[in-house]
Amino acid sequence: MLAPPPTLKLDEWTWATATRDGTSITVRPLRADDERREIAFIESLSEQTRYFRMFTPLKYLSPQLLSQFMDVDYDRRMALVATVGAGDQEMFVGVARYGSTDRQEQAELGVTVTDAWQRRGIATILIGALMRFARSHGFHELAGMVLPENHAMLALARSLSFTIEHDPAGHIMKISRRLDDSL
Ligand SMILES: CC(C)(COP(=O)(O)OP(=O)(O)OC[C@H]1O[C@@H](n2cnc3c(N)ncnc32)[C@H](O)[C@@H]1OP(=O)(O)O)[C@@H](O)C(=O)NCCC(=O)NCCS
Repeated sequence: MLAPPPTLKLDEWTWATATRDGTSITVRPLRADDERREIAFIESLSEQTRYFRMFTPLKYLSPQLLSQFMDVDYDRRMALVATVGAGDQEMFVGVARYGSTDRQEQAELGVTVTDAWQRRGIATILIGALMRFARSHGFHELAGMVLPENHAMLALARSLSFTIEHDPAGHIMKISRRLDDSL
C-alpha cells in the first residue's frame, strides 16, 4: 500500500456517525496497519455475502488477494471502512472501495457489509462518502457489476439513483451512476 499523498488529509475523510439504529460507527480510509482487521472482516462474512461480493464463495483468502484488498493509493484505488470499537478492539463492519477502469473518469465500485451489521444504513453511508471522494479525485462515473439474484444490492443501487442494466451476455447486472457536483 502506498502512503497517502501529502496533499490528502485523511482526517478530512474520517468521522464518527451512527447507524440507523443509533449505534456509533467511524468512517475512515483504509490504512496500511489495517491488514489484521481486513482479514477478520473477510472471515466474518457468510458464504453468501462473499459470493455476492466476489462471485465466488472464497473459502481461502490468499496472500495475493489480501494484498490486492490492501492496495489503495488514495486516488485511483481507494477504500473507505466503517468500524466499531476502538484501539485493539476496533473492527470493520463495512468496506466500500473503488478502482479505476480502462474507461476514462470511471471507477468500479465494490461494497460489503458484514452480515450482522446489514440493513442499518452502513452501505448507504459508505457509498455516499466514496462517491464524494471519487468525485473529488476526478471521476465522473461510478459503475459496478451485480449478480441478478443479488436483490439487496440492486435495491440499494436503486435507492442511490444508480441506473441498472441487464447484460445478457455476462448474466450480470451493470449498475452505474454519474458523479455530479450535487454530491
Ligand atoms: C448489499 C449490501 C452492501 C447492503 O448493505 P447494507 O448496509 O445492509 O445496506 P443499507 O442498510 O444501506 O440499505 C439501504 C437500502 O438498500 C436496500 N437493501 C439493502 N439490503 C436489502 C435486502 N437484504 N433486501 C432488500 N433491500 C435491501 C433497501 O432499500 C435499503 O433501505 P431500507 O433498509 O430503508 O429498506 C450488503 O447486503 C452486502 O454486503 N451484501 C453482500 C456483498 C454484495 O452484494 N456487494 C455488492 C456487490 S459489489
